[in-house]
Amino acid sequence: MTVKFRPRPARPTATARPDPRVKALMTWFSRHRRPLPWRRHPTPYRIWVAEVLLQQTRVAQAAPYFERFVRRFPNVSALARASEEQVLKAWEGAGYYARARHLHQAARQIQRERAGELPHQSGELRQLPGVGPYIAAAVASLAFHEPIVALDANGFRVLARWTLERRDLHRAAAQNRLRRWAMDRLPARRSAEFNEGLMELGETICLPLRPECTRCPVAGQCRARQELPDPGALPTRRPPRAKPQVVAAVVAVNRGGRWLVLRRPSTGLLGGLWEFPGGKVAPRERPVAAAARELREETGLTTGMLEELGVVRHEYSHFRVALHLFRTRSARGRVRVRGRRHRWVGFAELRRLPLPRATLKMLPPLERAGKRDRASRDSGSRRGRTGA
Ligand code: ADE
Repeated sequence: MTVKFRPRPARPTATARPDPRVKALMTWFSRHRRPLPWRRHPTPYRIWVAEVLLQQTRVAQAAPYFERFVRRFPNVSALARASEEQVLKAWEGAGYYARARHLHQAARQIQRERAGELPHQSGELRQLPGVGPYIAAAVASLAFHEPIVALDANGFRVLARWTLERRDLHRAAAQNRLRRWAMDRLPARRSAEFNEGLMELGETICLPLRPECTRCPVAGQCRARQELPDPGALPTRRPPRAKPQVVAAVVAVNRGGRWLVLRRPSTGLLGGLWEFPGGKVAPRERPVAAAARELREETGLTTGMLEELGVVRHEYSHFRVALHLFRTRSARGRVRVRGRRHRWVGFAELRRLPLPRATLKMLPPLERAGKRDRASRDSGSRRGRTGA
């Protein structure tokens, strides 16, 4: 899921006496909070990593990535010592790789300037690479109890229903109203439970399409529940945009058992990850012609023999891609890449590099094709012996 909101934290005017409605939310949260991995040993570092992951990934998907990442890098100094390649490898598959690069840069800054201790205040946290208003507010409240509201998309949805906010939540006026509403009710010393309680309610009960109002601790005061035939009709949604479909061709070039891979530029989509040469198929171009053209343009290699191994499909947040996968052993010429690194690697080494998910999906068909080759070579040589 893509969380698009980039809320600005509200001004700190939290209340000392919790509203009974807010108390109901927090009592519910204290009883029903899920034992999520970042809630175990909740160090500021673990809370920060989790919030970075969770901003663009659902809880169930994020959990295994979180576990893998913090096992590999258990604290700021371990992360600061790592190379970018190691960090990207540990983040592999989680997507939105700029998050990992920023986390790494921020860890180095925290190690250098603060001996590994995260800043406590949201204003200071926001100075770090990749830390926007939501993450700053979430870390400051969950790790350091700053009285500040942190609303992610789940929190905004809950409040839109609770307060009958009918405007599109992408509009700043609607967000500001909800943030003020929350800030006026935020219990000064329990901002962590308030913020996490709202998120938890949005993730487990106040679901996007079918809220389970009969289980909801605040249903009695929820205006959408009281006043609408279907509380799930809020928040007002924009019609979803159809995802464009991109067709691409990719060439796995093999020389002496090693595969040619190129490193993507450090910034932008999949920045810093390694991939096979390839690119978009032009309108009316055949995938095989696009594969040969892209190989030539990207690497200077030419080839007359391309074997198609199938089509790998992958879905990104804003588009879908169908990748025609080709293989060749007969590429000619010397590799010339401009401004990019390249390497020739065996399968074992390839698996150690940070790869996009779509590239990971190409490895099984390549390995199957290799097995087929070996099997036919073996049977060919047996036939040869029998015949001799
Ligand atoms: N979504 C964002 N942050 C979260 C958290 N700390 N717990 C559960 N869901 C979340």
